[in-house]
Amino acid sequence: MKTPVKIAVTGAAGQISYSLLFRLASGELLGPDQPMIFHLLETPQALALGALNGVVMELNDCAYPLLHKIVTTDDPDVAFKDVDYAFLIGASPRKPGMERKDLLAINAQIFSVQGQALSKVASRDVKVLVTGNPANTNALIAISNAPDLRPENFSAMMMLDHKRATFQLADKCGVLSNDIKNIIIWGNHSAGQYPDLHHAKVKGQDALSLVEWDWFVDKFIPTVQQRGAVVIQAVGRSSAASAANAALNLMRNWVFGTDEGNWISMAVPSDGSYGIEKDLVYSFPVEIKNGEISIVQGLEISDFSREKMRKSEAELKEEREAVKHLL
Ligand code: NAI
Repeated sequence: MKTPVKIAVTGAAGQISYSLLFRLASGELLGPDQPMIFHLLETPQALALGALNGVVMELNDCAYPLLHKIVTTDDPDVAFKDVDYAFLIGASPRKPGMERKDLLAINAQIFSVQGQALSKVASRDVKVLVTGNPANTNALIAISNAPDLRPENFSAMMMLDHKRATFQLADKCGVLSNDIKNIIIWGNHSAGQYPDLHHAKVKGQDALSLVEWDWFVDKFIPTVQQRGAVVIQAVGRSSAASAANAALNLMRNWVFGTDEGNWISMAVPSDGSYGIEKDLVYSFPVEIKNGEISIVQGLEISDFSREKMRKSEAELKEEREAVKHLL
């Protein structure tokens, strides 16, 4: 039997984790012959309330053969000890009417502490996926506080946006989501992101030759940008099952690689590609092979796209400015 891998999940008593943990334990991430140990991090308050304990009881009651052990803690140094994968989900979620900027101050502190702990105790090859919002800037803070890890160890989650965009295009064209390729979400995981169809294909045909330009600009872009807020309006809480699905899917791509001829959107430290300021955690189209992420190069960028990409970059610079004391 293989040696168990260690998977850290923060905010483990929260909604997204409740949708994620059971799928991880069933082997959906790493396959049916890879055992695992969960390291679950929560706040002291959540631990005291027993909420995490309830989740652990349910995990135990599933008797998953691959789940060898569960560690629960409120100490990041314990949670991240030797972990191979870290899902940083724990944060204060956006409430109805709340702007992402309000969240920034609340959450920035959490990610500096967790970056330091990861740097100190995690596996040197750890794959860290930041989901807690504002995800891109939280990832930037974690990276800046993790001097002993490589920036490439970190990413912020854009997969939910990528999937939202995929569905919208597939639905419009009356095809299945698997028929859609090469969607791009550029920039920030916020309403300022730019969902781009200039390179997207529908059954091999250029997407923009199949849909009206007005639909792309007036319907598709705002629908994808606003989807998170619309879900909150509809159900009174932020998207959880779809976010967990995206986190699992993104990590699978990171581990096993992206499909040939397709790419995914992933927020990674910029290397200056497409003129985006170096080191900002910005979403690009990426391909992954053997765990190595490379930003897709050489795509033609229209003036329309360039302006929207710059706008999202400017928003990320503003967020960075607001947390510069933690960098
Ligand atoms: P939730 O409120 O149900 O759960 C969050 C959990 O995190 C709570 O149990 C809380 O006690 C815990 N927590 C807070 N501070 C912590 C800390 N320092 N260490 C460990 N745990 C801590 O929220 P939910 O719905 O699970 O969402 C979590 C985050 O994910 C939010 O920031 C939300 O905005 C974000 N999100 C991101 C998406 C993306 O695509 N990047 C999509 C949907 C949500």
